Amino acid sequence: MSNVASTSASAQDPSVPQPLPRHIAVIMDGNGRWAQRLGLPRAEGHRRGVDSVRRTTEECARLGVGQLTLYCLSSENWKRPQQELDFLMRLLEQYMIEERELIMRQGIRVRVIGRRDGIPARVLAEMDRTIEMSADNPGTLLCLAINYGGRGEMVDAVRRLAQDVRDGTVAPTQVDEQLISNYLYTSGMPDPDLLIRTAGEMRISNFLLWQISYAELWITEKCWPEFEVEDLHHALRDYAARERRFGGLNRGEESDGL
Ligand code: IPE
Ligand code: IPE
Ligand code: MG
Repeated sequence: MSNVASTSASAQDPSVPQPLPRHIAVIMDGNGRWAQRLGLPRAEGHRRGVDSVRRTTEECARLGVGQLTLYCLSSENWKRPQQELDFLMRLLEQYMIEERELIMRQGIRVRVIGRRDGIPARVLAEMDRTIEMSADNPGTLLCLAINYGGRGEMVDAVRRLAQDVRDGTVAPTQVDEQLISNYLYTSGMPDPDLLIRTAGEMRISNFLLWQISYAELWITEKCWPEFEVEDLHHALRDYAARERRFGGLNRGEESDGL
């Protein structure tokens, strides 16, 4: 990713705040509320949400952000009315087809995390096609969390790990944080540095529970369809001004003594 970062807009543009997060994760919430506020059907909110996905992805690619993970559908979202779910599936299929050209042009690499069951075969086919086509692209990794749940991810990881311990390929004493990370869907990906949530809810909603342990949180009242490039820049400026301590002390405090 370093060759991409060095030729990116952020490397040349002094107005882009540094440091940039290596990995941004987004809980794209508030599509329904945005639509209802305007007297539109919830579906219209989802449709307009795709424009925000395009804007945000494009800007992250332009800036040279290494990874953008978008929460598209949670494992709990199946509780919604069938009509809304059908619409979301059609939208997902359409996205995978219609955005392909732009994804390829911008050198974006697409990955999907989550369980495949419940997703219609034709959606999976288009998803797989985009993943495969973009697999060797050098730019931003766009990771789409679809039918994703953080607890379900841990269940899947523990099942595979238990199997490997039983088969003798892993010893219980080898189990450490790195090994657990390797069993998650996000194996090999850096943890998110910045977690953005739109529409103001102060919760995580089962997103990347393991991976966000030290992510910086940034929550806006704006709904996802209203999320503009300027909002992303606002989050990036705030992120750049945060002091990340990871349990340690601020720079300069170490020499204070007790
Ligand atoms: C987020 O918007 C999109 C999905 C969860 C699929 P919502 O549909 O949750 O919108 P609100 O939160 O009801 O406004
Ligand atoms: C989180 O939004 C899931 C996605 C953005 C895909 P929800 O709308 O499902 O979250 P809750 O129900 O308000 O916690
Ligand atoms: Mg919501």
